[in-house]
Amino acid sequence: MQKIFATLALLTLTTTVLATPFANGDPANGKKLFDKYKCNSCHIDMVGGDGSAIFTRPNHKVTRPAELSAQMKRCSGMIGANITAQEEEHLAAYLNQQYYKFK
Ligand code: HEC
Repeated sequence: MQKIFATLALLTLTTTVLATPFANGDPANGKKLFDKYKCNSCHIDMVGGDGSAIFTRPNHKVTRPAELSAQMKRCSGMIGANITAQEEEHLAAYLNQQYYKFK
């Protein structure tokens, strides 16, 4: 009986982890990339401060994980930065942890 409970607990845990968006990304790595690509350089011009209000402004654009990926593609495209799928995952994990908090 105990084994069944242990298995169930493990299953629940695994499912929760897998359900997290951008689970393959590392937020700390994402922060480094965010600075490396100077992501906020344009955002500062738009919203002032350190630029991060772009993610929290009223009516901000990104409301779903898929939109976050899409917007990052548009942004990095504008500066011709060729971010890899893995880098994108790191960046998304960082922004999600800091601002969006998608579950
Ligand atoms: C060339 C200028 C520029 C650079 C560089 C840039 N962005 Fe953006 N970003 C924008 C603009 C413009 C918007 C607003 C788009 C809109 O409102 O439709 C934006 C919006 C965003 C949003 C959506 C915010 C919201 O409304 O929820 C995200 C996420 C984002 N940028 C991520 C990034 C990341 C990550 C990088 C670095 C890889 C980056 N941006 C670099 C111009 C830029």
